[in-house]
Amino acid sequence: MQSLTLPNGGTIPKLGLGTWGMGETAGEAAAEARAIAHALDNGVTLLDTAEMYGGGGAEEVIAQALRGRADRPFIVSKVYPYNASRQGVVEACERSLRRLEVERIDLYLLHWRGATPFAETIEGFERLMAAGKIGAWGVSNMDADDMAEIWSTPGGDGCQVNQVLYNLTRRWPEDALAPALAARGVPLMAYSPLEQGALAQSAPLKRIAAAAGLPPMQLALAWTLARPNVFAVPKSVRPKRIDEFLEAASLALDDDVLKALDAAFPPPPPGAHLEML
Ligand SMILES: NC(=O)c1ccc[n+]([C@@H]2O[C@H](COP(=O)([O-])OP(=O)(O)OC[C@H]3O[C@@H](n4cnc5c(N)ncnc54)[C@H](OP(=O)(O)O)[C@@H]3O)[C@@H](O)[C@H]2O)c1
Repeated sequence: MQSLTLPNGGTIPKLGLGTWGMGETAGEAAAEARAIAHALDNGVTLLDTAEMYGGGGAEEVIAQALRGRADRPFIVSKVYPYNASRQGVVEACERSLRRLEVERIDLYLLHWRGATPFAETIEGFERLMAAGKIGAWGVSNMDADDMAEIWSTPGGDGCQVNQVLYNLTRRWPEDALAPALAARGVPLMAYSPLEQGALAQSAPLKRIAAAAGLPPMQLALAWTLARPNVFAVPKSVRPKRIDEFLEAASLALDDDVLKALDAAFPPPPPGAHLEML
């Protein structure tokens, strides 16, 4: 598995598994935990979750998947903006740690921008790092202007990633955000790289994938993973699809395939705005 280097010198794998939608229905938790275990057994080493997903249920499904395992994946979780005050961020993290049944969250993100000043949230993150409860912190759903504000806030250069909506049909970050992150060596963490499954219906994607001899969703993910300074966290609860994700991480796409994708899914116009789900 290829990896990217974080500003703090640590590394992060190019592919992780998302968990949005897990932990919502008690009867499905065991199958979801088995899907996570399948991913870990087959080379996934990063899990992405949030206190929001399933109202904490996704973190509990991760705990269920990890019980009795010797290996320990890199865990990313997120705090709601309305829990992101200096003290609120500490309390939210402690709740997530209890649900996850781990001592430490490796990377803890501010889920999106809220009313709390960045300086306060960063202080909370720094307290959590000092206590060993998180390994590092980052943000999500921030545009280039938000990032400039974070980097000019005391402690803001501690930000390790920005997780944003990015896929073939959501190329908005390429205008201003992706270059700004690359200039600082801050990886862009792509969420919904399959447009929440909708890309499976894309006629141009199906046509280009058939010509390339690849499953369409695998091609969509491989495109995202091929972007420099980008890593991605697709989600599935189906082992066969998770295997496809893992294969996508080692695919090298030919120039003619990349050109065909660029023609069908053009880069954004100048001034493209932040898009989020
Ligand atoms: N920071 C944020 O604000 C934010 C927002 C959204 C997502 N995220 C994170 O990013 C992760 C990924 O995003 P996402 O879950 O929104 O969407 P996604 O990864 O783009 O797509 C996941 C959906 O696609 C389906 N799918 C997977 N492979 C498929 C295939 N080969 N054919 C057809 N459908 C397929 C999955 O269904 P099955 O499970 O049934 O396979 C699931 O419903 C999330 O789980 C979450 O961890 C973060």
